[in-house]
Amino acid sequence: MSAPPVNALGAALRVPLLEAIRAASADDSVGAVLLASGLKTWCAGADIREFGMPELPASEASLTALCDALDACRKPVTAVIGGVAYGGGLELALACDYRVVSGRARFSFPEVHLGLLPGAGGTQRTPRLIGIEAALRMCLEGKPVPAAEALGSGLADRRLDGDLAEAAFAWAGELLEKGSPSRKISGGPGQLPELGEAGAAFAAAREQIARKMRGRHSPELIVQCIEQAVACRDDFRAGLAEERRRFVQCLRSPQSKALSHVFFAERSAARGGSGAPGRAVERAAVVGCGTMGGGIAMNFAIVGIPVTVLETDADALERGLAVVRRNFERSESSGRLPAGAAKRCMALISSATEYSALAGADFAVEAVYENLDLKTRIFSRLDEALADEAVIASNTSYLDIDRMAAATSRPQQVLGMHFFSPANIMRLVEVIEGSHSSKETLACAFSLASRMNKIPVWSANRHGFIGNRMLTGYMREAYELLFEGTPPEQVDAALRDFGLPMGPFQMADLVGLDLGWRARELAKKPVGERKPGERLGDALCERGRFGQKNGLGIYNYGGGSRVPESEPMVAALIEELAAELGYRRGPPAEQEEIVKRCLYPLVNIGAGLLEEGVARAASDIDVVYVHGYGFPAWRGGPMHYAERQGLASVLEDIRGFQARFGERWAPSERLVRQAAAGGGFDKR
Ligand code: CAA
Repeated sequence: MSAPPVNALGAALRVPLLEAIRAASADDSVGAVLLASGLKTWCAGADIREFGMPELPASEASLTALCDALDACRKPVTAVIGGVAYGGGLELALACDYRVVSGRARFSFPEVHLGLLPGAGGTQRTPRLIGIEAALRMCLEGKPVPAAEALGSGLADRRLDGDLAEAAFAWAGELLEKGSPSRKISGGPGQLPELGEAGAAFAAAREQIARKMRGRHSPELIVQCIEQAVACRDDFRAGLAEERRRFVQCLRSPQSKALSHVFFAERSAARGGSGAPGRAVERAAVVGCGTMGGGIAMNFAIVGIPVTVLETDADALERGLAVVRRNFERSESSGRLPAGAAKRCMALISSATEYSALAGADFAVEAVYENLDLKTRIFSRLDEALADEAVIASNTSYLDIDRMAAATSRPQQVLGMHFFSPANIMRLVEVIEGSHSSKETLACAFSLASRMNKIPVWSANRHGFIGNRMLTGYMREAYELLFEGTPPEQVDAALRDFGLPMGPFQMADLVGLDLGWRARELAKKPVGERKPGERLGDALCERGRFGQKNGLGIYNYGGGSRVPESEPMVAALIEELAAELGYRRGPPAEQEEIVKRCLYPLVNIGAGLLEEGVARAASDIDVVYVHGYGFPAWRGGPMHYAERQGLASVLEDIRGFQARFGERWAPSERLVRQAAAGGGFDKR
């Protein structure tokens, strides 16, 4: 197989592969067949780009036909795997008689992340080979299994060292000497239990789905397929037919379309417009070792870049680095990082209280709290301390990058890199292009983010960039609903039911109500200029209710728990404030209205960002919301969700809200235009 970049099984690869397998099977001079890859990747599975296309006529070389041909091949076939064998690629390997691997081999069924299930025999062959528990784990979690683990579980047969091609030919020679024994998984029940013995494993899988995959469609169908494998343990073909039926059901589902959209949106965002590889960062500096600075420093260390962290004094450094060390240890003990990584990473982090210690860094990230004066002072100090070619980035969530750039002699080497908290875990980074940021500087930041396994998304330098600008509309409507008479519990529940991990008020409590309150007090913002939601935040903070951090916020959190409990005093406070602000209170809003009121501002503001050129593509906006704000990936992000509803219907609702609530609901011109034109936001 040699179909760059990743041997995706599109028709261009399937057709010749099918011919080759049939020819080898029929050719008497062939003793054994090796199925190998000419690329680093063994095979990335089905070609996801084909999913939106009309279904293949039965005569075409489908993936199932390929697996059938391998199954029927009269010569023993060995998959020689030296890289990733994912999805349909792993299914090909399982239809072979043997799997031999190098240490670089990785196996996975990532279909679940695409709203699918392994649809070419994966749910039938895997449990026969490695048992139902391991098969359920692979299909439901979609995590890569490394070579050593695959050899241990029986997924792979032998590890080959040295030159893989040479070792594979030697292996084939061994097979011929042994009389070419064939060993098809489809030949019998293998590791499948009797039906009566399997109940507990399926119950545990369903319990896991209820806990971790709420709202998702394909996980339950995966469990059903493996149940069918057990029920049809002596009839492989019957199980295969059941799998096929459910696979087609998944393929046609909106969830699968949304998840494929996110897959391509992530990759398109990461190209950042230019796609050119940027200069590799060799030594980094981070200014500030609070929550964000510490998390950002961790990212550098995890990918092996030495980093110096600067703080104002030794105490602040000690406190910050103690948190970093604890986080590394936690990641290591949870398996997120390999054994020994915490120590290795900590050794890459050095600390300083003087700017002169940062002189060797070629990339610096300023990560102090949101105060423009402070940030510009830091930029000027960094400019003096760093070498001429170094890049300076600000981890600001809404401030003006140009003002910071103006404090330096190198505005072309300044940009924003907005990380999300916790920065060592969240994958989104908004990359903010200032008026003077050069293409090389941007390329450097995009490459750095990709190296950190982040998903970078380009944004213009406009207040709040993409994500936080949209969030203001979401939060505004949530508070409006509250003052109009819908309790916070109901608003939060509606958005959780939609698929968000938490509702807006749980989120406000998690972030901390005191942050905004202190900022408003510090800025001496007149009470008359404070928004209704801010007024509520003020009132709560004045009563010592800062959010989850002290167990008292919009909700109560008893005994350090994260579970919100209602507080009658807060309900009374909302009512009081609503009267003072002149709201006419009514009955609680219906679930559908809550969802539309909170989510359609995201769509409308998002359309405005496209119009203003703040975001380059609707798919970029979706990536921001999925990876930065917990929008369910299986709904594709807010812009994709709106497209699925139909932009004309979304616009009609927005106009309805405009009639009821006034100009804050004025539709964006881009939305009006796209709704009239039909189709989606991004013309491809
Ligand atoms: N189909 C089509 N294109 C694919 C693809 C696939 N399965 N997998 C990767 N690509 C494309 C990417 O879109 C990207 O294209 P661009 O360069 O144009 O952006 C290119 O290949 C390289 O991909 P990455 O940037 O992701 O490269 P990487 O080296 O970081 O990762 C990978 C490689 C591990 C294979 C990763 O791409 C991946 O996980 N791919 C998805 C695998 C997958 O989900 N397979 C299951 C498909 S569904 C299936 O097989 C159903 C079935 O059972 C019938």
